[in-house]
Amino acid sequence: MTGTKWKRGVALAGVGISKFGSHPQKTSRDLFVDAYTELIGAMNAFDPEKIEAFYLGNFSSEQFEKQSHLAPILANWVGLSPIPTVRVESACASGSLAVREAAMAIASGMYDAVLVGGVEKMTDLDIAAVTEALATAADTQFEIPAGFTFPGFYAAIATAYLSQYQANREAFHHVSIKNHDNGALNDKAQFGQTIHSIMESKKARAEQKGRPVPDWKDEIDFLSDPKGNPWIAWPLALFDCSPISDGAAVVLLVSEDIASDFTETPIFLIGSGQASDGALPERATLSSIPSAAEAARQAYAMAGIGPDSVDLAEVHDCFTIAEIIATEDLGFFERGTGWRAAMEGKTARDGVHPVNTSGGLKSKGHPVGASGVGQVVEIWKQLNGLAGERQVSGNPRIGLTHNVGGTGQTCVVNIFERRV
Ligand code: COA
Repeated sequence: MTGTKWKRGVALAGVGISKFGSHPQKTSRDLFVDAYTELIGAMNAFDPEKIEAFYLGNFSSEQFEKQSHLAPILANWVGLSPIPTVRVESACASGSLAVREAAMAIASGMYDAVLVGGVEKMTDLDIAAVTEALATAADTQFEIPAGFTFPGFYAAIATAYLSQYQANREAFHHVSIKNHDNGALNDKAQFGQTIHSIMESKKARAEQKGRPVPDWKDEIDFLSDPKGNPWIAWPLALFDCSPISDGAAVVLLVSEDIASDFTETPIFLIGSGQASDGALPERATLSSIPSAAEAARQAYAMAGIGPDSVDLAEVHDCFTIAEIIATEDLGFFERGTGWRAAMEGKTARDGVHPVNTSGGLKSKGHPVGASGVGQVVEIWKQLNGLAGERQVSGNPRIGLTHNVGGTGQTCVVNIFERRV
């Protein structure tokens, strides 16, 4: 796999995304239509007749909506039947894997143009049922019977990391504050609020209700207080967690040689890596995600670049600790220093390695099957200078997505390049 190239180049020709959040009135079909409509509206030369296949990233519509076999339903709903459809399931990495599989189908010469979607509609179930559904992405023989849920898994990872590197848990707060700052500039984000504004509205609510007004002096103070930021699974609290979300995203992938028929601003998929691993108890380390490091190694080798060439990255911050570890697995920072880099603002929009400018899973939301495709939408916007107030300066040219399934049983890393 090392240094593998596509048999022919693959380009992104357009993107669309629904608003992420809680949408009680919408099904996954409606969310998908929102994303697809945005894709069509943003393209000058969109012709559905040219789409030859549809790949869908979806974790578990059968558990969340009692609807399996979703890919042909969605394709038909937007008038694409009878093209072949493929559902790709790889837990929270389903979206990125759908992108990678579709790219391989194009690179093989099988198709010239493939629509890739990601969708998940999670909020119809209550939190206990959602937690149980998510837990099926873990090892139900060796992990779940030990009493773990996903916040619990990442709490174990966080505990190992804090202990191994004598790290400060305050670093988690910096990740959360940064991602909410970015999400506040993204009209598609579930939490379009900064931590500062959430803190102030909690104070205002207390005052209105005649309760004692908390004297949090800043966001760190607020996040350090279990009254503002209650424990979920120590050492992770509410604002360390990505939320339960509904949402959809789509991207149009085409063969590089015909990209100009679809768009004047194609973005090229120049590297892709994927790796797998066993359950958490089988790992030699809990303070990194080995499949992520391996997927990154493959993607960098294929792209012929290293981490320092990456201008921005969307990484899988399902929990704040996951973002810190991702920045190490991707080689942005040395092992054991990602927490300090987060505290020093190195992953902010104006930092040396901007991470999760969209708000990330933490603030933009985490409709699991859609998250990886949503990451690509942000990379498209940033590389084409379309990210508005959250635009990274300096004409970014290389963007990376990092998407983890389970606790790292799967990881997919894709690297994109703007050439003009
Ligand atoms: N971050 C910040 N605030 C959150 C939040 C989050 N992740 N989730 C919910 N909230 C807020 C709500 O907006 C609400 O605020 P309000 O009281 O001001 O209206 C409040 O917290 C309670 O919301 P609720 O929906 O009742 O929360 P919950 O207790 O049902 O769920 C978690 C909270 C953290 C348990 C849930 O979001 C969760 O399980 N997240 C992890 C998801 C996961 O594991 N994904 C897979 C990762 S691999």
